[in-house]
Amino acid sequence: MISLTRVIVPLLAILSIAFANPIRRTGDPAINLPTAGTHIAPGANFSFSYNSLGDYGRSSYAYHVWLLADDAMGKAITPTTLFTNGYFFGRFDFANYPAVPYPKNPAPDHLTMPDFSQPEGGFGAGKAATNYQFQLVVIEEWDDGAGAVGRNLAISNTPIIYNATSSS
Ligand SMILES: *[C@@H]1O[C@H](CO)[C@@H](O)[C@H](O)[C@H]1NC(C)=O
Ligand SMILES: *[C@@H]1O[C@H](CO)[C@@H](O)[C@H](O)[C@H]1NC(C)=O
Repeated sequence: MISLTRVIVPLLAILSIAFANPIRRTGDPAINLPTAGTHIAPGANFSFSYNSLGDYGRSSYAYHVWLLADDAMGKAITPTTLFTNGYFFGRFDFANYPAVPYPKNPAPDHLTMPDFSQPEGGFGAGKAATNYQFQLVVIEEWDDGAGAVGRNLAISNTPIIYNATSSS
């Protein structure tokens, strides 16, 4: 079992790079669901659908799904104990031949929004929030015949409202 800190710290570094210098997508919509402005209640399941960059001539290796507070947007790389707040839903893969003929961890068609008011365990208190705007952020690892030093990282985001006071 890899410790969460070992996964999250490098990913936050990636995120701050990506936000500072995003590889903007052109053409296809990236996060199909949830749509921008979707209201998601604590503990609720919500539909998730992402349009991977994997295609003929372009391989997709994995994508990471994060929930990040709005203040993460546009932040540069500055080491800090408080980059932002949010949640990691997981690292998923997508069937695209020949890189990933059989996905080992395809994304589910829905994700479950945690109730962040609950204690996190240990010293973590959790916190209630109302009408809280988060960004659902997907970072995808891909490469093509041009090559990359490491993998190319694409970033997509869609704003959602957590614990909205109205239902839609
Ligand atoms: C949410 O989805 C999970 C499976 O991912 C399921 O076990 C659970 O019952 C669902 N919850 C609701 C409220 O539909
Ligand atoms: C959701 O918002 C309500 C106020 O509208 C608040 O009383 C409640 O504690 C919030 N729930 C969570 C999980 O933050």
